[in-house]
Amino acid sequence: MSTAKKDIKKVTTHQLQEMKTRGEKISMLTAYDYSFAQILDDAGIDVILVGDSASNVMAGHDSTLPITLDHMIYHAQSVIRAVDRALVVVDLPFGSYQGNSSEALRSAIRIMKESGAHAVKLEGGSEIIESAKRILSAGIPVMGHLGLIPQSIYKFGTYTVRAKEKEEAEKLIQDAKLLEEAGCFAIVLEKIPATLATQVAQSINIPVIGIGAGSGVDGQVLVIHDLLGITKEFSPRFLRRYLNLYSEIKNGVSQYIKDVKAVDFPNDKEQY
Ligand code: KIV
Repeated sequence: MSTAKKDIKKVTTHQLQEMKTRGEKISMLTAYDYSFAQILDDAGIDVILVGDSASNVMAGHDSTLPITLDHMIYHAQSVIRAVDRALVVVDLPFGSYQGNSSEALRSAIRIMKESGAHAVKLEGGSEIIESAKRILSAGIPVMGHLGLIPQSIYKFGTYTVRAKEKEEAEKLIQDAKLLEEAGCFAIVLEKIPATLATQVAQSINIPVIGIGAGSGVDGQVLVIHDLLGITKEFSPRFLRRYLNLYSEIKNGVSQYIKDVKAVDFPNDKEQY
């Protein structure tokens, strides 16, 4: 290993906890392949999530349900090869942990062993708590995910804001406490009112990472394709697009096509 690589201080779950304690916000983004993961890590991202959103943005499905454990391991392996610093968390896909806690543990062990990832993420609260505990008992760090949980989209019916009503908000607060008590190192809160998210972040000691959950939480996560403007027709209110790569890439490809047709590419300097 080169000296430079050896000197890189890796992000740990313990460090994320310290960041919350000293009020330093945590940055998290998704990545599903080697090239993007390398750029994100080089830029200094704290956490990379190999999200099951790969089902949407990489495979073109309209939900996260179809992606399999084998697919997630493939994506995680590619990401891990690129990362020197960030903590890499991998989503347990739909159907790989809800059945029973032994199956959940088997799935989490496969991810950790076969990809070299550092932690797993599960969606849900009381419904999956036995699975979370079983995985934690094997020494595998677990991140929770509450609010809009896309693996339950057919139960919700829509991708609208969750926990606006008192009953659902109260259950979410209880679930966050349950996940903390079980030993989860962090929780993602997706698409819930900002005041509720702030209340959760203030009432538990582990970091709360928001997506569409306002600024009062301990960190933020976005899907990288959304942030870069690669996804074409997705512009929820919570999303800030930092680039418009869809048209940048399209323009570049259109120019390449023109140059090939016009025999302008390759020119004399671009050949042997
Ligand atoms: O799969 C994913 O990308 C996620 C984030 C939206 C948090 O779970």
